[in-house]
Amino acid sequence: MSSKNTVKVSVSGENILNLPLLEGTLGPRVIDVRKLYSDHGYFTYDPGFTSTASCESSITFIDGEKGILLHRGYPIQELASQSSFMEVAYLLLHDDLPDLDQLNHFRSEITHHTMLHEQLIYFYRGFRRDAHPMAIMVGIVGALSAFYHDSLDIADPDQQKLAVIRMLAKMPTIAAMAYKYSQGQPFVYPRNDLSYAANFLHMMFSLPVEPYEVSPVMERAMDRIFILHADHEQNASTSTVRLASSSGANPFACIAAGIACLWGPAHGGANEAVLEMLQEIRTPDRIPEFLARAKDKDDPFRLMGFGHRVYKNYDPRASVLRESCYEILEDVGNGSEPLLELALTLEKKALADPYFQEKRLFPNVDFYSGIIFKAMGIPTSMFTVLFAVARTVGWLSQWKEMIEDPKMKIGRPRQLYKGHQKRKFVPVNERNS
Ligand code: CMC
Repeated sequence: MSSKNTVKVSVSGENILNLPLLEGTLGPRVIDVRKLYSDHGYFTYDPGFTSTASCESSITFIDGEKGILLHRGYPIQELASQSSFMEVAYLLLHDDLPDLDQLNHFRSEITHHTMLHEQLIYFYRGFRRDAHPMAIMVGIVGALSAFYHDSLDIADPDQQKLAVIRMLAKMPTIAAMAYKYSQGQPFVYPRNDLSYAANFLHMMFSLPVEPYEVSPVMERAMDRIFILHADHEQNASTSTVRLASSSGANPFACIAAGIACLWGPAHGGANEAVLEMLQEIRTPDRIPEFLARAKDKDDPFRLMGFGHRVYKNYDPRASVLRESCYEILEDVGNGSEPLLELALTLEKKALADPYFQEKRLFPNVDFYSGIIFKAMGIPTSMFTVLFAVARTVGWLSQWKEMIEDPKMKIGRPRQLYKGHQKRKFVPVNERNS
């Protein structure tokens, strides 16, 4: 290997280690430390994986410095403005945009798997009515593996494909039913004549006594939100899905694990937290008080919807959603305009504040999605559920890529041990109290 392709590491001025240097299509070069322990007896230390590439992937690329997000090479802004969620889902799973026949076939496959096994529907009744819908999502998606035995064998490509189609198709149904259950309303079954986004809105808002007319603006906004959340490289929930699947666990169990991780407020739970924060701030004159709290090291409060592990620039998804906010508010209004005004003022003030500038904290995708959801009439507790519905295709694409990768190994991080040295066991009656 030429010295151009290796990195020399000296430890305590001695032992020169030669580590291979790997080059991706885009992004920083990667030091290959796979043999570091077996050949040299060292571990690397990187809690939170801030500098660690956990896998090789061809699905999504992010340049956090420049605010770039590409899916299979296509910029997110172009996908959001010119394609549909079904096209993006196909793209993520298959590496290429579909032609019209492929798209129609894919749509039809999804449409014909949207119903749930009728017995699975009884599962909902085991939950309290006031259960958080994310808790229901984790439970029901995990339970899919008890119902669809013919799509559990990950070594069989046909079963793999069936599991992908089933999960993608059923996720909106599962989510809408979680909402209906919390409202004490009858479940609404999917309709084959509607698009993915319109069908979800129909299952959320239709009643047996009053069918719901899906407005084209709402349908488009929902579809765009699905596109913007579809995948995001090796984030916490995606890495959870990959880690769970590295043991050979079934696909439904892996996606349930991803949903559980997404629920956290530092990840998918942030859009719910943004709305709660805006409602707590209430009026623009209170913004300085909340900014001061966000900057105070002794206060755990953070400005929700701001900051990102990877983006040190404006999150490109947030720019698209900012525009969608105006469109949707014009269509439905719903009394959410003051909330948008408050969010815009908060954003302006935070971006002008030296603390946020120095730490390079910009609005992320969650800053605006909550306002759109609220204007659509979607309750706060469903915000993260919608994120999960959209992200399912990303999780599935990453899951598929992983199990097809011949280099796949069970995920097994090591540690920097800081506990006791070996010590002698003392029987309980001989221990000094
Ligand atoms: N408000 C105030 N200070 C912040 C914020 C914030 N929102 N975010 C980061 N900081 C500060 C943080 O206190 C730290 O300061 P210091 O260096 O003085 O200790 C510095 O900025 C770096 O923060 P970090 O926590 O080390 O950065 P991270 O990469 O580990 O965290 C984050 C990223 C998204 C968890 C964090 O920015 C955050 O908690 N944001 C609010 C929650 C949020 O909006 N999450 C949605 C993320 S995007 C959607 C998704 O991926 O699910």
